[in-house]
Amino acid sequence: MSQTFPNLTLLENALLKRDLSTLRNKHTPNPIFRATLERISEVMAVEICRNFPLDSFDYETPLEATTGYKFQESFLLAPVLRAGLGLQNGFLKFLPEATVSHIGISRDHRTHEPHFYYSNIPTHIETLHCIVLDPMLATGGSATMATSLLKEKGAKKLTLVSVVAAPEGVKYFSEHHPDVHIFTAALDRELNANKYILPGLGDAGDRLFGT
Ligand code: PRP
Ligand code: URA
Repeated sequence: MSQTFPNLTLLENALLKRDLSTLRNKHTPNPIFRATLERISEVMAVEICRNFPLDSFDYETPLEATTGYKFQESFLLAPVLRAGLGLQNGFLKFLPEATVSHIGISRDHRTHEPHFYYSNIPTHIETLHCIVLDPMLATGGSATMATSLLKEKGAKKLTLVSVVAAPEGVKYFSEHHPDVHIFTAALDRELNANKYILPGLGDAGDRLFGT
Protein backbone atom coordinates (compact mmCIF):
# COMPACT_ATOMS: atom_id res chain seq x y z
CA MET A 1 0.00 0.00 0.00
CA SER A 2 1.53 3.30 -1.01
CA GLN A 3 0.69 6.27 1.17
CA THR A 4 1.25 9.97 0.82
CA PHE A 5 1.83 12.37 3.68
CA PRO A 6 1.58 16.15 3.23
CA ASN A 7 4.61 16.89 5.42
CA LEU A 8 6.89 14.21 3.93
CA THR A 9 9.34 14.65 1.07
CA LEU A 10 10.70 11.43 -0.40
CA LEU A 11 14.04 12.37 -1.94
CA GLU A 12 14.38 10.80 -5.36
CA ASN A 13 18.03 10.55 -6.33
CA ALA A 14 19.77 7.66 -8.06
CA LEU A 15 22.73 7.98 -5.69
CA LEU A 16 20.43 7.47 -2.71
CA LYS A 17 18.74 4.46 -4.30
CA ARG A 18 22.11 2.87 -5.10
CA ASP A 19 23.58 3.53 -1.65
CA LEU A 20 20.44 2.44 0.21
CA SER A 21 20.82 -0.97 -1.39
CA THR A 22 24.25 -1.22 0.25
CA LEU A 23 22.82 -0.23 3.65
CA ARG A 24 19.98 -2.72 3.37
CA ASN A 25 22.22 -5.64 2.36
CA LYS A 26 22.83 -7.83 5.43
CA HIS A 27 26.28 -8.78 4.08
CA THR A 28 27.55 -5.18 4.11
CA PRO A 29 30.35 -4.95 6.71
CA ASN A 30 30.29 -2.19 9.36
CA PRO A 31 33.02 0.02 7.81
CA ILE A 32 31.23 0.02 4.44
CA PHE A 33 27.89 0.64 6.15
CA ARG A 34 29.39 3.65 7.96
CA ALA A 35 31.00 5.10 4.82
CA THR A 36 27.83 4.59 2.81
CA LEU A 37 25.61 6.25 5.42
CA GLU A 38 27.99 9.20 5.44
CA ARG A 39 27.74 9.50 1.64
CA ILE A 40 23.96 9.31 1.89
CA SER A 41 24.01 12.09 4.47
CA GLU A 42 26.01 14.27 2.06
CA VAL A 43 23.54 13.73 -0.78
CA MET A 44 20.60 14.36 1.54
CA ALA A 45 22.22 17.53 2.88
CA VAL A 46 22.62 18.87 -0.66
CA GLU A 47 19.02 18.00 -1.55
CA ILE A 48 17.55 19.42 1.66
CA CYS A 49 19.56 22.68 1.54
CA ARG A 50 18.58 23.22 -2.11
CA ASN A 51 15.76 25.69 -1.35
CA PHE A 52 16.88 27.15 1.96
CA PRO A 53 16.31 30.94 1.86
CA LEU A 54 19.28 33.15 0.99
CA ASP A 55 20.22 36.76 1.73
CA SER A 56 22.26 38.68 -0.79
CA PHE A 57 25.24 40.84 0.09
CA ASP A 58 27.70 43.04 -1.79
CA TYR A 59 31.40 42.22 -2.04
CA GLU A 60 34.26 42.60 -4.47
CA THR A 61 35.99 40.09 -6.68
CA PRO A 62 39.60 41.07 -7.61
CA LEU A 63 38.02 42.80 -10.64
CA GLU A 64 34.75 44.47 -9.59
CA ALA A 65 31.87 44.69 -7.15
CA THR A 66 29.34 41.87 -7.28
CA THR A 67 26.55 40.24 -5.32
CA GLY A 68 26.99 37.16 -3.12
CA TYR A 69 24.63 34.94 -1.17
CA LYS A 70 24.53 33.51 2.31
CA PHE A 71 21.94 31.47 4.17
CA GLN A 72 19.33 33.61 5.94
CA GLU A 73 19.21 31.17 8.84
CA SER A 74 21.70 29.75 11.29
CA PHE A 75 21.43 26.02 11.91
CA LEU A 76 21.43 23.55 14.76
CA LEU A 77 22.03 19.90 13.92
CA ALA A 78 20.50 17.51 16.43
CA PRO A 79 21.74 13.94 15.86
CA VAL A 80 19.73 11.43 17.92
CA LEU A 81 22.22 9.04 19.54
CA ARG A 82 23.54 6.77 18.45
CA ALA A 83 22.52 6.22 14.84
CA GLY A 84 22.04 9.94 14.17
CA LEU A 85 25.82 10.26 14.43
CA GLY A 86 25.97 8.57 11.05
CA LEU A 87 24.32 11.63 9.48
CA GLN A 88 26.29 14.26 11.36
CA ASN A 89 29.40 14.60 9.19
CA GLY A 90 27.58 14.85 5.88
CA PHE A 91 25.46 17.73 7.16
CA LEU A 92 28.41 19.44 8.83
CA LYS A 93 30.30 19.29 5.54
CA PHE A 94 27.72 21.59 3.94
CA LEU A 95 26.67 23.52 7.06
CA PRO A 96 30.06 23.82 8.80
CA GLU A 97 28.95 26.72 11.01
CA ALA A 98 26.06 24.72 12.49
CA THR A 99 25.81 24.18 16.23
CA VAL A 100 25.58 20.46 17.08
CA SER A 101 23.34 19.31 19.93
CA HIS A 102 23.38 15.58 20.57
CA ILE A 103 20.20 14.07 21.97
CA GLY A 104 20.47 10.71 23.72
CA ILE A 105 17.37 8.57 23.25
CA SER A 106 17.28 4.80 23.32
CA ARG A 107 14.32 2.57 22.46
CA ASP A 108 13.39 0.00 25.07
CA HIS A 109 13.87 -3.45 23.51
CA ARG A 110 10.75 -4.85 25.16
CA THR A 111 8.22 -1.99 25.09
CA HIS A 112 9.74 -0.12 22.11
CA GLU A 113 9.16 3.11 24.04
CA PRO A 114 11.86 5.82 23.75
CA HIS A 115 13.93 6.67 26.82
CA PHE A 116 15.72 10.00 27.10
CA TYR A 117 19.23 9.97 28.60
CA TYR A 118 21.21 13.01 27.36
CA SER A 119 21.01 16.41 25.72
CA ASN A 120 23.08 19.56 25.43
CA ILE A 121 21.02 22.34 23.91
CA PRO A 122 22.10 26.00 23.63
CA THR A 123 19.98 28.82 25.07
CA HIS A 124 19.73 30.72 21.76
CA ILE A 125 17.92 27.78 20.12
CA GLU A 126 14.91 29.93 19.19
CA THR A 127 17.03 31.75 16.60
CA LEU A 128 18.16 28.54 14.89
CA HIS A 129 16.68 26.27 12.25
CA CYS A 130 16.94 22.90 14.02
CA ILE A 131 17.59 19.85 11.87
CA VAL A 132 16.91 16.59 13.71
CA LEU A 133 19.02 13.73 12.34
CA ASP A 134 17.92 10.13 12.85
CA PRO A 135 18.26 7.57 10.05
CA MET A 136 15.38 5.39 11.28
CA LEU A 137 11.78 6.53 11.72
CA ALA A 138 10.10 3.33 12.92
CA THR A 139 7.31 3.87 15.48
CA GLY A 140 8.28 7.55 15.41
CA GLY A 141 8.65 7.63 19.20
CA SER A 142 12.33 8.66 19.27
CA ALA A 143 12.09 11.42 16.64
CA THR A 144 8.89 12.73 18.23
CA MET A 145 10.54 12.85 21.67
CA ALA A 146 13.67 14.60 20.29
CA THR A 147 11.54 17.18 18.48
CA SER A 148 9.35 17.78 21.55
CA LEU A 149 12.47 18.34 23.64
CA LEU A 150 13.84 20.91 21.18
CA LYS A 151 10.48 22.70 21.14
CA GLU A 152 10.36 22.71 24.97
CA LYS A 153 13.79 24.34 24.93
CA GLY A 154 12.47 27.04 22.58
CA ALA A 155 12.99 25.77 19.02
CA LYS A 156 10.63 27.50 16.59
CA LYS A 157 11.67 26.02 13.26
CA LEU A 158 12.49 22.34 12.83
CA THR A 159 13.12 19.80 10.07
CA LEU A 160 13.41 16.03 10.51
CA VAL A 161 15.85 14.03 8.40
CA SER A 162 15.40 10.27 8.26
CA VAL A 163 16.86 7.79 5.80
CA VAL A 164 14.36 4.93 6.09
CA ALA A 165 10.86 5.68 7.34
CA ALA A 166 7.89 3.45 8.09
CA PRO A 167 4.37 4.74 7.38
CA GLU A 168 3.48 4.14 11.05
CA GLY A 169 6.33 6.41 12.16
CA VAL A 170 5.53 9.16 9.67
CA LYS A 171 1.90 9.11 10.82
CA TYR A 172 2.79 9.19 14.53
CA PHE A 173 5.37 11.95 14.10
CA SER A 174 3.05 14.04 11.89
CA GLU A 175 0.21 13.81 14.40
CA HIS A 176 2.47 15.21 17.12
CA HIS A 177 4.45 17.67 14.99
CA PRO A 178 2.39 18.66 11.94
CA ASP A 179 4.53 21.80 11.60
CA VAL A 180 7.78 19.86 11.07
CA HIS A 181 8.68 18.73 7.57
CA ILE A 182 10.21 15.27 7.18
CA PHE A 183 12.74 14.34 4.51
CA THR A 184 13.50 10.69 3.88
CA ALA A 185 15.29 8.60 1.28
CA ALA A 186 12.85 5.67 1.54
CA LEU A 187 9.29 5.11 2.71
CA ASP A 188 9.22 1.41 3.53
CA ARG A 189 6.28 -0.97 3.80
CA GLU A 190 5.56 -1.48 7.49
CA LEU A 191 6.85 -2.44 10.93
CA ASN A 192 7.21 -6.04 12.07
CA ALA A 193 5.99 -7.34 15.45
CA ASN A 194 9.27 -6.15 17.03
CA LYS A 195 8.76 -2.66 15.57
CA TYR A 196 11.60 -3.03 13.08
CA ILE A 197 11.12 -1.50 9.64
CA LEU A 198 10.40 -3.87 6.72
CA PRO A 199 12.29 -4.29 4.48
CA GLY A 200 14.46 -1.83 6.43
CA LEU A 201 18.12 -2.33 7.17
CA GLY A 202 18.12 -3.81 10.67
CA ASP A 203 19.41 -1.97 13.72
CA ALA A 204 21.12 1.13 12.39
CA GLY A 205 23.12 1.86 15.56
CA ASP A 206 24.43 -1.69 15.79
CA ARG A 207 25.39 -1.81 12.11
CA LEU A 208 27.05 1.60 12.33
CA PHE A 209 29.14 0.80 15.40
CA GLY A 210 29.49 -3.00 15.21
CA THR A 211 27.76 -3.68 18.53
C1 PRP B 1 16.98 3.47 16.79
C2 PRP B 1 17.11 4.55 15.73
C3 PRP B 1 16.08 5.54 16.15
C4 PRP B 1 15.00 4.68 16.76
C5 PRP B 1 13.85 4.57 15.82
O1 PRP B 1 17.64 3.86 17.95
O2 PRP B 1 18.38 5.09 15.68
O3 PRP B 1 16.54 6.50 17.08
O4 PRP B 1 15.58 3.38 16.98
O5 PRP B 1 12.82 3.83 16.38
P1 PRP B 1 11.44 4.49 16.78
O6 PRP B 1 11.01 5.37 15.62
O7 PRP B 1 10.55 3.30 16.96
O8 PRP B 1 11.63 5.28 18.03
P2 PRP B 1 17.93 2.86 19.18
O9 PRP B 1 16.92 3.11 20.26
O10 PRP B 1 18.04 1.46 18.67
O11 PRP B 1 19.29 3.39 19.73
P3 PRP B 1 20.76 3.34 19.08
O12 PRP B 1 20.74 4.27 17.88
O13 PRP B 1 21.62 3.82 20.19
O14 PRP B 1 21.03 1.91 18.68
N1 URA C 1 15.58 1.17 14.89
C1 URA C 1 16.43 0.67 13.95
O1 URA C 1 17.64 0.87 14.02
N2 URA C 1 15.90 -0.07 12.97
C2 URA C 1 14.59 -0.30 12.85
O2 URA C 1 14.17 -0.98 11.88
C3 URA C 1 13.74 0.23 13.83
C4 URA C 1 14.26 0.96 14.83
